[in-house]
Amino acid sequence: MVFSILSTFHIKSQMVLSPSGYVSVKVDLSNEGVPRYSISYKNKSVIQPSSLGFVLKDGNNFNNGFEITNAETSSVDEFWNPVWGEVKTIRNHYNELKISLRQTTTQRLLTLVFRVFDDGVGFRYEIPRQPAINHFIIEKEETKFNFGKDHTAFWIPGDYNSNEYFYYKTKLSEIDASVGHTITEISAKKLFDNNAVQTPLLLKSDDGIYINLHEAALVNYSAMNLILDKNSFSFTSHLVPDAIHNAAYLQAPATTPWRTIILSDKAADLLSSKTILNLNEPSKINDISWIKPQKMIGIWWEMHVGKSSWDKASSKHGATTANTKRYIDFAAKHGFNGILVEGWNEGWEDWFGTWKEDVFDFVTPYPDYDINYLSNYALEKGVKLIMHHETSSSVTNYERWMEKAYHFMKKHGMEAVKTGYVGYIIPRGEWHDGQWMVNHYNRVLEKTAEYKIMIDAHEPVRPTGLHRTWPNFLTCEAARGNEFNAWSQGNPPEHETILPFTRLMGGPMDYTPGIFKIKMNHYNPTSTFQVHTTLAKQLALYVTMYSPLQMAADLIENYEARPDAFQFIKDVPVDWDDTKYITAEPGDYVVVARKEKGKENWFVGAITDEETRTLQFSLDFLNKEEKYIMTMYRDADDAHWKAKPEVYVIENFVVTASTILKLKMAPGGGTAISIKPATIEDTELYKKYKVK
Ligand code: NOJ
Ligand code: CA
Repeated sequence: MVFSILSTFHIKSQMVLSPSGYVSVKVDLSNEGVPRYSISYKNKSVIQPSSLGFVLKDGNNFNNGFEITNAETSSVDEFWNPVWGEVKTIRNHYNELKISLRQTTTQRLLTLVFRVFDDGVGFRYEIPRQPAINHFIIEKEETKFNFGKDHTAFWIPGDYNSNEYFYYKTKLSEIDASVGHTITEISAKKLFDNNAVQTPLLLKSDDGIYINLHEAALVNYSAMNLILDKNSFSFTSHLVPDAIHNAAYLQAPATTPWRTIILSDKAADLLSSKTILNLNEPSKINDISWIKPQKMIGIWWEMHVGKSSWDKASSKHGATTANTKRYIDFAAKHGFNGILVEGWNEGWEDWFGTWKEDVFDFVTPYPDYDINYLSNYALEKGVKLIMHHETSSSVTNYERWMEKAYHFMKKHGMEAVKTGYVGYIIPRGEWHDGQWMVNHYNRVLEKTAEYKIMIDAHEPVRPTGLHRTWPNFLTCEAARGNEFNAWSQGNPPEHETILPFTRLMGGPMDYTPGIFKIKMNHYNPTSTFQVHTTLAKQLALYVTMYSPLQMAADLIENYEARPDAFQFIKDVPVDWDDTKYITAEPGDYVVVARKEKGKENWFVGAITDEETRTLQFSLDFLNKEEKYIMTMYRDADDAHWKAKPEVYVIENFVVTASTILKLKMAPGGGTAISIKPATIEDTELYKKYKVK
């Protein structure tokens, strides 16, 4: 019997709709008392009945024999202002269904919470405080996402340790996760299932619904991979295990992260979803005055292209006092706030692949790096050094040094740190994306917040909207960044058109755009490596690849050689009052317009994949009363990411809200545009824009 006669409610199924009714969720119990949910969007089924539950380590399954003891609905409609972001104000508008369950044999209680927004659903498990269960170990979470159809998928292989892959676009039936595991994937965890993929996963149905599957608020839990059953086109969650193969350790009361399904029938609208942010807790930082979106340069790309080195043993040490001074001068001259310096500290001689626990102490500079002099010099010049903490994944060691390291930073006037977790996690057996590391990353956010330090994390677990709760968490890597183009086969031209639909759904990315010297044979004549874009597309990425911390990643001399194109990087802001995703298709193109925070200036970024593309759209987002001067940085007519990547044209025109813009992008190309209110002189000097 599903319902015991003692139960107070005899509820069989419950339904909840989103505020405008586009999305509906139905929750019920099977005959065996297995909780199930299904989702439809604009009257089309998106997720067919899918079961929910856990297998616990104590041998008691926590996935059947339930009865519903209560069901409650509630609604929220509120507005909040993020500390920084793509828009000034965010609406949080949903209907909630909370279902209380009791497992009849064990008397254990489980609550399911569904929040239904007009652009998707978040649901999570809550294990209330109760006599029947206290602390427990999850062996498996068995959440199903039963699509029932052979959708097109943009996926990267399942992995416990790395998300630094390019994306595959195939039908679900064609997923073969063994393909992506090559030696260029740093510290990838060996394949655990040929049908496993990671989130954020993007699906497109044959009838044109875009579906992003991810999670929100990953706290004290392991990240979720997904394993596909190709017979039913149903995914089952697969939590990243710990060293002894347990999935997660919890103590009641406990909540899991939200499992998120974002839905749209227009690809561009998926990109403006705020549902993942809305499912995260509000900021835990009260005084936010020290949190500053910013641009940085750094002693960084020169190591990746082999011009200098992190370590001091070779004669090419990059982080010398003289070189850093050069970067400080350049930053001060061109209006950059931060200078990242990697390789400043002792330890780089044997930091990688050695399994050494105590390579770095984070407070001992190399002798040729005069940190006292440089921090005073930066202060004088009105700029800030940005700290680098490569942990070499020796995480217990980092935790031991953390507080001293943050003291050291503050003493030297530093307000931001780039962390890094290259290699296998020490202690051995833990994985980058398991609960143990998730807790570490979150502890770092909390600790740095105490010290008023901003964070850019490399090789962390992929983000889940936690930057709402910890706005000092400016950005992170957690995907295959531009650096792969310096020393590997790199990222295909379509890569940057997929990232916004996948990785960036969880939060900003430190992609490190702005590479002007596209071909690596500039540094090493025998190299065939290159950035797989045109120069103009590198500019457009500052707008399409949202991050409140952006790096101008190339070398000083490469910017000095092209001051006209560099002007765009100087002008483009990193914080916005408004964002309009104009048109987009994953794997093909993205066009976005953003309005600078507190100003009337707009910036447009348009990028394409390996195909040349002409796109036409209206500037109707501009103020109707105003005339603007538009500066367009576009691909030259003969530009091509491979044959001729560095040719571009810069043109100025007068535009208004009624202007129709036509952009032609080269294969692997893009267009970057700044639009500012025009002066009288501008309108006299420049022609009105007309479609050719
Ligand atoms: C990998 C990071 O992504 C990169 O930015 C950094 O330079 C190296 N690790 C060294 O820490
Ligand atoms: Ca394509």
